[in-house]
Amino acid sequence: MLPASIGDYRERARRRLPPLLFDYIDGGSYAETTLRRNVADFELIALRQRVMRDMTVVDTAVELMGRKWSMPVGLAPVGMAGLYARRGEGQAARAARKAGVPFCLSSVGVCAIEEVAAAAGEPPWFQLYMLKDRGYMRELLQRAAAAGAPALVFTVDLPAPGSRYRDVRSGLSSPPSMARTLREGWQGVTHPAWLWDVWLHGRPHSFGSISAAIPEARGASDFWGWISRNFDRGVTWADLDFVRESWSGPIIVKGVLDPDDARQAVRLGVDGVVVSNHGGRQLDGVSSSIKALPRIVQAAGGDLDVFLDGGVRSGLDVLKAVSLGAKACFLGRAWAFSLAAGGEAMVTRMLETMRAELVTAMILTGCNSIAQADETLLDAAI
Ligand SMILES: Cc1cc2nc3c(=O)[nH]c(=O)nc-3n(C[C@H](O)[C@H](O)[C@H](O)COP(=O)(O)O)c2cc1C
Repeated sequence: MLPASIGDYRERARRRLPPLLFDYIDGGSYAETTLRRNVADFELIALRQRVMRDMTVVDTAVELMGRKWSMPVGLAPVGMAGLYARRGEGQAARAARKAGVPFCLSSVGVCAIEEVAAAAGEPPWFQLYMLKDRGYMRELLQRAAAAGAPALVFTVDLPAPGSRYRDVRSGLSSPPSMARTLREGWQGVTHPAWLWDVWLHGRPHSFGSISAAIPEARGASDFWGWISRNFDRGVTWADLDFVRESWSGPIIVKGVLDPDDARQAVRLGVDGVVVSNHGGRQLDGVSSSIKALPRIVQAAGGDLDVFLDGGVRSGLDVLKAVSLGAKACFLGRAWAFSLAAGGEAMVTRMLETMRAELVTAMILTGCNSIAQADETLLDAAI
């Protein structure tokens, strides 16, 4: 059976990946309330069906960060993607380039930024967390600039990691031990396609962009330990000055869910915010991204670009978010699952489906171009 929906890619990924990796992608924090809300709240929004409006021309193109893209969709930063498919970030970046959408590389990607730029033939956007080791942060920013990254996505909703019960149960968040090694080994041998493709031939044993910081590291748990120790819970808005000293390009602050924070971002002159709760992986129980979006758009007042991620699973969701004021949507699990399901080819297929769904939704709502999408496309009565 060929995959049609994101649920289908998820099911393929579930069969192919060792369970602890699938749960790492699929799961959220605590009771996963926000994770469910992110998806369910999209279902509560109704589009207005319109007819007989000459829909011969439908234009999905948008301009983001000074460049034209084929549709208001991008690939969000997702850590460790090189564990889901061989050199996964490179494969996904190639698919994004083919589809004409931006790819944002996580700072905890398996592939380094130079490798991803070479694989795709264009530099990715780069995502960074605030790290305690400011010297190393500066080096990373300079490296991203040297590689030609056109935008920096500065993630601010992870000063401390939320507790993810699935990772506790699977042992992924446990310290290294013989039991853990045996459990992971068993999961590997019982998933031979993954073992062959990724573990034996994908060199997934380091985090490309940050591996220079921990030359003594011998495996993923050493890297993970370094990252956890380096999250900086002392970060404030004033730290944007520090980022700006080493980065002269556009800055997008990711993880804004409150209008007061959006107003602060405007005051400090950042170029964009991503309305996000980290895909329901941080503070459980907070609002879904789509529900928070209109308040953030209003607070931003058109002074910066407002992006959204969290729960986007179809082209219909994209049109709903754009109608509520998002400049574009970013996909997290949607691309992680399709990558795990079949590498670049499946990410390409997923993006083609997303585009086809968006076009059909625009035709059936009588919307000729993304610039025309606004609240009049939504049915307030539902
Ligand atoms: C497996 C996984 C890893 C992630 N890693 C990162 C990361 O390294 N940096 C980051 O800013 N966000 C990260 N995120 C959050 C995504 O960028 C995005 O906010 C979220 O996935 C959107 O929700 P969705 O998965 O419902 O689309 C990760 C999400 C997932 C599912």
